[in-house]
Amino acid sequence: MRTTTARAYPNIALVKYWGKADEELILPAAGSLSLTLDHFETTTTVVPAPGAGADVLELDGALADAGQTERISTFLDHVRALAGREDRVLVRSRNSVPTGAGLASSASGFAALATAAAAAFDLDLEPRDLSRLARRGSGSACRSIPDGVAVWHAGDDASSFAESVDAPDMRMIIVTVNRARKAVSSREAMRLTASTSPFYPGWVSSTEDYLQQMLAACAAGDFTRIGEITESHALRMHGLIQSTVPPIRFLNPTSHAIFDAVAEARESGIEAYSTADAGPNVAVIVRPHDAEALAGQLTAFGDVRIVGPGPGAHLLDAAEA
Ligand code: DP6
Repeated sequence: MRTTTARAYPNIALVKYWGKADEELILPAAGSLSLTLDHFETTTTVVPAPGAGADVLELDGALADAGQTERISTFLDHVRALAGREDRVLVRSRNSVPTGAGLASSASGFAALATAAAAAFDLDLEPRDLSRLARRGSGSACRSIPDGVAVWHAGDDASSFAESVDAPDMRMIIVTVNRARKAVSSREAMRLTASTSPFYPGWVSSTEDYLQQMLAACAAGDFTRIGEITESHALRMHGLIQSTVPPIRFLNPTSHAIFDAVAEARESGIEAYSTADAGPNVAVIVRPHDAEALAGQLTAFGDVRIVGPGPGAHLLDAAEA
């Protein structure tokens, strides 16, 4: 075993993952597609702790709570099973954004941890097997293993992984409306959706259609179609989530105002489309040459950052770490 450090970036889904076919294996009910960013990274170091009785997790310099440590330890059990070893480790992780704020930090977190831990345990995994491993930590994390735009296939344990697809160059404007930890986790909200929303079966079947259309639009380099599908699918997901019992609303009035402002920008010739994950922050896709102008218009609503397609999860050498 050895000490290793890895870095991974969050991804924002353009076709959303919302619902599981298998909770234990974290298999999605339908496929999804995302853009991995080049900002807001997580950097994670795994240090072997020979003889220690338990894994230890340090998050942003502080000892993590029992719940967080247990989730990491359960994930590390998958790595230990693959390696045929029992060793416990110290995990030191740093996020460049607050965790749980709807900026997909569980994706960058588990993608970085999977990459660092696999190397620490001397596993030489193919990219698709690393993506499958990251999936066991958090579903969306499997899409932060490949570069740029990634499709995550629904399927069984062997076939459910993410891989890069070609897509036209685009930028994403992240509008941070609220940095607070969200009240309901994605995992909990997904469970509630599957068990209480009458619309859930229709969501699952229509998501597969959206994904096929999205893959065709990516292959054709059709930014307009990519954007239309992105915004429509995001609004559909939030409509679905609002139909749970009790209802959950992640978008707030500012989020809606941003969707409206982006629609207005389209009227004035800047082609852009909005999406949002399980929180009020909005991500807007736009062609590269329009990004600055649109970002300027969106500063009225919150902190604005233009991000581009980012690299997949990767190991850092000792000097970078
Ligand atoms: C709204 O990947 O965080 O961001 O698999 O339970 O860990 P778990 O859920 P998670 O859910 C992400 C939900 C989403 C949509 C998406 O990223 O596709």
